[in-house]
Amino acid sequence: MIFHLTEEQLAVKEAARDFAQNELKPGVIERDSKMQFPTEQVKMMGELGFLGMMVDPQYGGGGMDTLSYVLAMEELSKIDNSASVVMSVNNSLVCWGLQEYGNETQKATYLPKLATGEWLGSFCLSEPEAGSDATSQRTTAVDMGDYYLLNGTKNWITNGGTSSVHLVIAQTNPEKGHRGINVLIVETSWDGVVIGAKEDKLGIRSSDTHTIMYNDVKVPKANRIGEDGFGFKFAMKTLSGGRIGIAAQALGCAAGAYELATQYSKERTAFGVPISKHQAIAFKLADMATEIEAARLLVYRSAWLKDQGMNYDMASSMAKLYASKVAMEQTVEAVQIHGGYGFVKEYHVERLMRDAKITQIYEGTSEIQKMVISRSILKGEMYAPILPNTANV
Ligand code: CAA
Repeated sequence: MIFHLTEEQLAVKEAARDFAQNELKPGVIERDSKMQFPTEQVKMMGELGFLGMMVDPQYGGGGMDTLSYVLAMEELSKIDNSASVVMSVNNSLVCWGLQEYGNETQKATYLPKLATGEWLGSFCLSEPEAGSDATSQRTTAVDMGDYYLLNGTKNWITNGGTSSVHLVIAQTNPEKGHRGINVLIVETSWDGVVIGAKEDKLGIRSSDTHTIMYNDVKVPKANRIGEDGFGFKFAMKTLSGGRIGIAAQALGCAAGAYELATQYSKERTAFGVPISKHQAIAFKLADMATEIEAARLLVYRSAWLKDQGMNYDMASSMAKLYASKVAMEQTVEAVQIHGGYGFVKEYHVERLMRDAKITQIYEGTSEIQKMVISRSILKGEMYAPILPNTANV
């Protein structure tokens, strides 16, 4: 078992940390208050290669492994989860899906723009009545010969007001159930794409979350990814990798709050000593560090499994389930350590606590992750277990 990072991975982590500290941190409180999308910062993220980290260099990407992407996500998420969700969706749900399952023309047309941040992408699966129950798609893509006629409404779409391309999941053959679902590449400049209201959210307030309507949008057949009926499997496989990105976001959120709490506890005095000298606080720090390290191991391992070409469906759900729980619990602890200061915006931890909640909801709620994990266990699909003799429990 080798637990060290390579020189390249350490360099990525360092570069992401510098960017987060120097470019994201200065305006993060104001952007959060005003629900202001980090336009300039996202542009820089594109220039620095953070938006297409795993995309093949022949399409303008960084050609990096999933672990490097996770390390960068973790560092950005210590500071600004509104910026890191842009990065997560663009990398894992849009670029990865296109690179893995798109044909050559689709990859050559869309990946260079998406990987460099010239365009942002959105992943359009959720609907007013199809969030967790993703097979119940009401959006329709009717086969009209050489194009699909797309109609429907998608909810809670990340990058909804800023993206130039959508991957839209829609039902073509309802009689076939989930096997009738397709995934279509839709450009937002096309007639009939309507960007609806921006959501006013508890957390990740400066990310751009919208309802999207498709009204008789003509989508060329050439823009369908994969065979007819491949859309649901596409969504499941893509979300499986996406969950590694959100798990890394949750990890960063928890680790960021922990770093702030540790620093604060060394500076703040009470009863004549820094509060870190009081066991009540020191034990909290010990618990936080232990929980976060356990989450980190699950997150890094799920990325490693993906990089090895092994099955990571269950591992990514475990990582997201646990890391998001740790994020929620440990950001609350960080606020507690800060006392009254933790309740005001200036100290950053209240924002991380609000941001943490979404990691238990998007890309599958915690309950959905438990469904994925338990089904894998019951099917005997235990992934490359650490101890070989635990393979079939
Ligand atoms: N890989 C490949 N195929 C998969 C798969 C996977 N990981 N998981 C399921 N499938 C296949 C199954 O094999 C099955 O195919 P066959 O019938 O051909 O064998 C098919 O998909 C249906 O599977 P299930 O019967 O298990 O489907 P289900 O209806 O019981 O639901 C679910 C499965 C796991 C609950 C799924 O619906 C799910 O993941 N729901 C949550 C969706 C989600 O994460 N939404 C978040 C929105 S995106 C977002 O948040 C983005 C953002 O902006 C941040």
